[in-house]
Amino acid sequence: MSSLLVDNIGELVTNGAGEGPLGIRRDAAVLVEEGRVVWVGPSAYAPAADRHVDAGGAAVLPGFVDSHAHLVFAGDRAAEFAARMAGQPYTGGGIRTTVGATRAATDEELRVTVRRLRAEALRQGTTTMEIKSGYGLTVADEARSLRIAAETSTETTFLGAHVVPAEYADRPDDYVGLVCGPMLAAAAPHAKWIDVFCERGAFDVDHARAILACGQAAGLGVRLHANQLGPGPGVRLGVELDAASVDHCTHLSDADVAALAGTANSDGSGTRTVATLLPGAEFSTRSPYPDARRLLDAGVTVALATDCNPGSSYTSSMPFCVALAVREMRMTPAEAVWAATAGGARALRRDDIGVLTPGARADLVVLDAPSHLHLAYRPGVPLIRQVIRNGVPQ
Ligand code: NIG
Ligand code: FE
Repeated sequence: MSSLLVDNIGELVTNGAGEGPLGIRRDAAVLVEEGRVVWVGPSAYAPAADRHVDAGGAAVLPGFVDSHAHLVFAGDRAAEFAARMAGQPYTGGGIRTTVGATRAATDEELRVTVRRLRAEALRQGTTTMEIKSGYGLTVADEARSLRIAAETSTETTFLGAHVVPAEYADRPDDYVGLVCGPMLAAAAPHAKWIDVFCERGAFDVDHARAILACGQAAGLGVRLHANQLGPGPGVRLGVELDAASVDHCTHLSDADVAALAGTANSDGSGTRTVATLLPGAEFSTRSPYPDARRLLDAGVTVALATDCNPGSSYTSSMPFCVALAVREMRMTPAEAVWAATAGGARALRRDDIGVLTPGARADLVVLDAPSHLHLAYRPGVPLIRQVIRNGVPQ
């Protein structure tokens, strides 16, 4: 059994026992065996190990957990981005452009893109990444999107209800029937979650409820794109269905915030339904950011994710999202780092990641900086010195 010791850690973010909300420990070390953390303590008392990484006094944190990404697609929409920066609004209509390109792509082309983006994210410290389908929108194209996603992640999400594809434009009920029937049957063996884009212009609340209920009956967990482009019933539907996460949450009423806060566990230890905020989308669509402060002050559990996709947020960078959350959404650096690690883990209902405590998966990021504060303080700077995933230095 081979062991790995990471020592000489100036600031260790554990998200467990320790100082402040991040459970910080100073002058610390982490011992890893068989891909798991087995010991955390003072560097001076660290046990011997077969291999050794000297953090050189730098900060170490849990690998980022990116709980929302759309990586299975072909083509890009750079021209749509340029048009937006010249004043065009974002409506989600460009999704159909990517659907056309994705259907025309070979399996190998899709696979290369997924791997490229996954590798790009890993270099930026993302050790867990959820991957959605949603640009195929036929039975065969959704099934292959998920098959390819599952080669790279266990956190795969069936998003057949992304938009109604053009060929069903005048019969959306039929498309919902397809999604709940043959498409779900073909997708479910490769998916852990089901998601719906519940928004004006995509799926209304009745369609979303029907699709999510079918997914639940097929054994998939529920997550939801909700309240991104305008107010609506999506967030409350997510709470009603015990969704692991409602994502975007840009346009929320007091009732939405209360519904999310009302899912808090009785011991006050957080919420069941997480609000996942995706500031890369507001950045890239030049839209107002979600009000993270309002959610946090109400006691809602908040996660941060990239929403990496070719339309509304073509970034794979969790450090960028942390910086945006601090600068634009009034999260403290500690809240943002927690949301990008432990928060993402909660949004995926995982307790083995997002923390560095004995028993957790050994997913660690060594920063080129003395403190987690630098992730927001030094935006755009490549601060990820080393990534250790499942106990293996990358
Ligand atoms: O999360 N909102 C729906 N889906 C994606 C956008 C997809 C696209 O524009 O291609 C999102 O922002
Ligand atoms: Fe999305």
